[in-house]
Amino acid sequence: MTEDHAEEAAALWRAAGLVRPWNDPLGDFRRAVAGPASAVLGVVEDGPSEGGTLVATAMVGVDGHRGWVYYVAVHPSRQGKGLGSAVMRAAEDWLRDAGAPKVQLMVRAGNRDVVRFYERLGYTDQDTLTLGRFLDPELEQLRRELS
Ligand SMILES: CC(C)(COP(=O)(O)OP(=O)(O)OC[C@H]1O[C@@H](n2cnc3c(N)ncnc32)[C@H](O)[C@@H]1OP(=O)(O)O)[C@@H](O)C(=O)NCCC(=O)NCCS
Repeated sequence: MTEDHAEEAAALWRAAGLVRPWNDPLGDFRRAVAGPASAVLGVVEDGPSEGGTLVATAMVGVDGHRGWVYYVAVHPSRQGKGLGSAVMRAAEDWLRDAGAPKVQLMVRAGNRDVVRFYERLGYTDQDTLTLGRFLDPELEQLRRELS
């Protein structure tokens, strides 16, 4: 996908329940499509709108060590039809082509049910804890207040 799809992708991510108040989905999209080490992959279906309708996404990136997948989303009206699996396979192909030997992703603690979706695709718990903080103090404060 290209910069032109930023608004449509952000709307899909909101509809799929992935966006939190401290997230910047438009900024995330634009950073991901700007450089060679990352991309946003999309499934576009024919529809009434010109250029089709975006119904699924996966953001991919390589950090030099591993491949990561973010923003795996299927529009609620199109879930349960194999699109999530298809976009994950496309993400794996992209990362393999980029030279990543391993793919990883994070699942929010409040979204544990979705682990079964990933397990069907061969993913397993890596027995690690993920720690993090915002580098922008204002965003870190907002996250603490709202989470
Ligand atoms: C998770 C998500 C991407 C799956 O997409 P999808 O197109 O509905 O998935 P598929 O149709 O490819 O499903 C593949 C299998 O996983 C199962 N599955 C899908 N979502 C599941 C869920 N939330 N919990 C448990 N199992 C799930 C399906 O039942 C299916 O099983 P089957 O092969 O036995 O039929 C989609 O439900 C979604 O966008 N959810 C909201 C956003 C989200 O939570 N993203 C993940 C962030 S980590």
